[in-house]
Formats: sequence, structure tokens, C-alpha cells
Amino acid sequence: MKRTTPVIPAEDIQRQKEYCAQLRALNSRLPSPPLAYVDTYGCQQNEADSELLRGMLCEMGYEIADTDRGADVIVINTCAIREHAEQRVFGNVGALVHGKRKNPNQVICLCGCMAQEPHVANRLRQSYRHVDLVFGPQQLWRFPELLRRVALRRGRVFETERDDGAIAEGLPVRRSGKLKAWVSIMYGCNNFCSYCIVPYTRGRERSREPDIILREIEGLAAQGYKDITLLGQNVNSYGKDLEGGWDFPRLLEAANAVPGEFLLRFMTSHPKDATDRLFDVMARCEKVAPAIHLPFQSGNDRVLGAMNRRYTRGQYLEKVAALRGRIPDVVLTSDVIVGFPGETTPEFEDTLSLIEEVRFDALFTFIYSPRKGTPAAELPDPQPRGEKSANFDRLVEAQNRISLEKHRAYIGSVRRCLIDGAGEDPRSSLTARTAGGRLVHLDGDPALIGRFADVRITDCSTWALFGELV
Ligand code: 5AD
Ligand code: SF4
Repeated sequence: MKRTTPVIPAEDIQRQKEYCAQLRALNSRLPSPPLAYVDTYGCQQNEADSELLRGMLCEMGYEIADTDRGADVIVINTCAIREHAEQRVFGNVGALVHGKRKNPNQVICLCGCMAQEPHVANRLRQSYRHVDLVFGPQQLWRFPELLRRVALRRGRVFETERDDGAIAEGLPVRRSGKLKAWVSIMYGCNNFCSYCIVPYTRGRERSREPDIILREIEGLAAQGYKDITLLGQNVNSYGKDLEGGWDFPRLLEAANAVPGEFLLRFMTSHPKDATDRLFDVMARCEKVAPAIHLPFQSGNDRVLGAMNRRYTRGQYLEKVAALRGRIPDVVLTSDVIVGFPGETTPEFEDTLSLIEEVRFDALFTFIYSPRKGTPAAELPDPQPRGEKSANFDRLVEAQNRISLEKHRAYIGSVRRCLIDGAGEDPRSSLTARTAGGRLVHLDGDPALIGRFADVRITDCSTWALFGELV
């Protein structure tokens, strides 16, 4: 197979580094380093993108601040997945006008998925005139050039044309954690689920080269990272655009062979491409966490068809059985949409019965939110909001009961956990995660943070486990 993914030439990345150096030289003449603040909405891919933005800002001579107050550069990295996320962004961006009035030299940037929606770009252009720079996810690697353009010319810059995207390697990164790290393995999505805006904002599926990914994982393991998550909108499509017969199970197995003591996770898997081979690799690779996020969205075949998910309820259940056949105690989580256009309450009840049948460890539940430009937004949507909310509440209630029951089954067992942080409650001074990713509160010496330890589970709630060091 021929490689089809465009890669940004190394000279173009080098040019961005030169822009960084130019801005650093300008910034170094200031009495103290200027401050930059990056605010992130939405998914883990956005978190990873923000780590690149911070890396580039550091190269440009900015100090990273943890608040927008007093910042010289503010970057809002946005999410377009649901209306609610967008409203929060508009509210928060609107409020920045006051700070800008006090400090007219402040540069306000908006990037991420919202920037790629034409109606959002228009609204920002017309009604949010204090926003200086707007650019979509596919332009992220050009941030130094765009910021320099704003800084030198003081004009507004909009880079929001639709763009299928390319792979940019070698950008500086400033990671937020010392134990947990994200590694993007691919970008974009070609699935076009009928409700979803992502294929329009993040461009076409494209995979990073396996040797670059594996070197990044080696570097992280050598630096002491203990929990590494491979990221992609649909990791199971990894490698379709690469030469050499790479696919996700093969990449996962190669990542498992990287020396070091760490756990490997991945997000997100589309059920239609989750294969027995993937489950086999998960079962035999000791570093791969016994956990999978496998969004099912609906338990009703008519609704699944209208969502363009390309699997049936029966096929989803077969995948779950195949997975549990190999990893009986796998932690299984999922996403669900309630109130998809045209969904009736009896159809919703198929979703409810699916969660009773599968018994997920945890569920991310959403009420359908129409996204301009997607096919589902054109469908008739007669169900009253109150009925959708009532169905949503029934789902959450059922899942809370199941989550609590699943957590109760942990009590008395001893689990190997990664101690990953300090707790907020004085009686549980530490937090930890089981290999499957469940949160554990416990008491112990803060010196243990960053170590794996055996923890006896003594109690639980719907959301978390409580335990003690063995
Ligand atoms: N409305 C509600 N939920 C959505 N999701 C994606 N698009 C929408 C939408 N338009 C949910 C899906 C997806 C998760 C990331 O967000 O469940 O898996
Ligand atoms: Fe959206 Fe479907 Fe792609 Fe997930 S797989 S990002 S839900 S289009």
C-alpha cells in the first residue's frame, strides 16, 4: 500500500522554530519574561495539543501561567462536540474583554475544533473583536508564525479554512504531568457518525510513523513516566495509510516491548474495528492495561443505523463477549447518546437494557446536541426535551447502581495500583489508580507518589474505591 498521508517537510518545522527564536529574542528584551496562559476544553487530544502549544510558547520565551490574569498571551483551546461546551467558551472568551481593555497589548488566541466551524469563525470575527488570532487544529504547528504575525503587525489573523490536515513532527512539547503522558498516534476521523462534528473539524485520518511513536514512548519510559495513553479519534484505524502492514494491534505489541515499568492505555476505539486480534494483544501484553473505552452510543439497531455506526447491538455484544472471554476482569467503559433525533422511548429502553446486559464499569452519558453541518442536525427531532431528560435520568440512575455494585465486588481484594497524586481529604492523603484505571483513595507517605504498590480495597462509592497499603 502506498503512503497517502502528507507530512509537513522538516524545513517548514524548522522555519517555525526560527520564528520561535525571533520572538524569544524580542521577549528577552523585556524586564521580565512575558506570561502565557493556555486554557483547554474537551478531549484528551486537546490536552495533548495544549502541551504542544505550551512547548512552543516556552520556545518563544514565555513563562507558562496558571491563570489568565496578567497573562500577555491567552490561548483558548476549544471543543465543538456539544453545544454546552461551545457556550462555555463563548461566555469565557466574552469575559476576557475586560482584561484586554486594561492591557491592550494582550494577545487573545482561540484554537481547537470550534475555530474550524464556519459559523463560529464568523461570530468571532464580528462580535468578539478582542480575539486576535483564530486557527483550527490542522494549523497548530504554525502557531509560532501566526502569533508572530499578530505580534508584529497588530492585525487580526484568521486561519480557519477547511483543511484535511497533515502530520507535523518535531514540535516542542511541555508535558503537564510527570507520571501520565499522552502520545498521539493518529489524527482525524473518517467515520462520519451522523451526529459528530469531529470529522469536519479534525480532518482526515492520518497516522504517525511507528518508529517515531515508539521512540517517543522509549523517551517517556526513560524519563520515568508510568502511565502512557496512546491517543487517536479511532485508534483502531491506525496504520491504514501507512506502508509496511502496520495496524493498531501490532503497534500496541511493539509499544509493550519498550523496556521500563509503565502501563499502556489507549483511547478511543470504534467497536466496528475492535478485533479479536486487538483483544488477544491486550490479553498477552503485560503492560497493556486491562481496560478499554468502547463507545456503543445506542442499544437500538434502528438508531445505530441512523447514527451511521456500522455495527448492530448483536455485533457489539459479541465484541464484549470476545473481550471478556480473553480478559474476564477487563474494565469496560463507554459513551452513550440519549435523545438522538427520532429516538423513541421504547428505542431508548434498548439502550437501558444493553447497559444492564453488559454492566459497564462506568459510562459517559450525553443528551444529543445538534451540530451544524452534520447530517443528524437535519433530521426531524420531535421528542420533547422533558422526555429526553427523563430518559437520561433513568440511564444515569441505572448506571450508578451498576457502578456501585461493580465497585463493591472489589472490596477485600488486593490490587496493584499506581500511586499518582496527593488526596484532598486528610484521612486519604494519596490517590491511586488500579491497572484498569479505577480511582482509589488511600492514606500513605507522599514519597510513594510515582510508585506501584499493592492496595487492599476496604470500601467504595459509586465513583471511587477506598483502600489501604498492604
Ligand atoms: N451530541 C451529544 N453527544 C455527542 N457525542 C459526540 N457528538 C455528540 C453530539 N452531537 C458524544 C459521543 C462521543 C463522545 C465523545 O461525545 O458519545 O463518543
Ligand atoms: Fe465522532 Fe464517530 Fe469519529 Fe468518534 S468515531 S470522532 S463519534 S465521527
